[in-house]
Amino acid sequence: MNPVTDKIAIEAASLGLGYPGSTQPVLEGVDLSVAKGEFLTILGPSGCGKSTLLRAIADLLPPLSGRLSVLGKPAAEARRQREVGFVFQEATLLPWRTVRENVCLPLQVGKSRVAKSVQSRADHWLELVGLADLSDRYPNQLSGGQRQRVSIARALQCEPDILLMDEPFGALDEITRDRLNDELLAIWRRTHTTILFVTHSITEAIYLGGRVLVLAANPGRCQALLDLTSLKDANGICRRESAQAQETAAQLRQLLRDGGA
Ligand SMILES: Nc1ncnc2c1ncn2[C@@H]1O[C@H](COP(=O)(O)OP(=O)(O)O)[C@@H](O)[C@H]1O
Ligand SMILES: [Mg+2]
Repeated sequence: MNPVTDKIAIEAASLGLGYPGSTQPVLEGVDLSVAKGEFLTILGPSGCGKSTLLRAIADLLPPLSGRLSVLGKPAAEARRQREVGFVFQEATLLPWRTVRENVCLPLQVGKSRVAKSVQSRADHWLELVGLADLSDRYPNQLSGGQRQRVSIARALQCEPDILLMDEPFGALDEITRDRLNDELLAIWRRTHTTILFVTHSITEAIYLGGRVLVLAANPGRCQALLDLTSLKDANGICRRESAQAQETAAQLRQLLRDGGA
């Protein structure tokens, strides 16, 4: 094993991404290295390619050019080994299954009955996201925030090394979002999962991330990568209202303005 590459979760070099049939690539020349256990937040104007980047890492889209490796191997292999989990903006739950049954789903495909061990693992993750009491409910009996928690529990059920989150809290009210941010940080600290988290909220990007990647549009590219560790206290908590956090927010706002043109 190589001690350096062994610590890297995601590595992109001159990566170009785009969709079949369109002449212009969405993202070009992406160079990015994400360490194992890192929490990276991603900001960028609408349509610049944030979701596209996550899709490529999840092997839902093949690279057009350059190199992408996920846990030291091609993205397809990491996906086959269920090392990458995905949480989307809208919780994609099956309405005819209870909360617990939805969480069991990734480990149940192809089997008619859910093993007891899978169920107890589902209960463990539901407890961690604060839904232990609601595990027998159906998705339409939950609030938006609760549905998103189910999605997170379902992604964690496979214990992925990498968790990709695409604006997972974008549709939630601010109080719920703040609470889920704290829960997510607690889960991240406990599980050491590498997290890539796309958001439109500068505040959320600063609060959650150890680093923040800013993507720009036209052409889609990496514009800046900021280290946020100096904003966090010894417990890794960021005081949103601190002068330094405000300054970083202003800097990010300017970067987003520059990159949106
Ligand atoms: N399935 C697709 N086929 C063709 N073009 C797409 C597809 N999905 C997204 N795009 C285009 O790729 C660009 C980047 O999209 P996306 O990654 O979703 O942006 P973001 O998540 O940053 O808002 C946009 O111009 C969008 O229109
Ligand atoms: Mg998107």
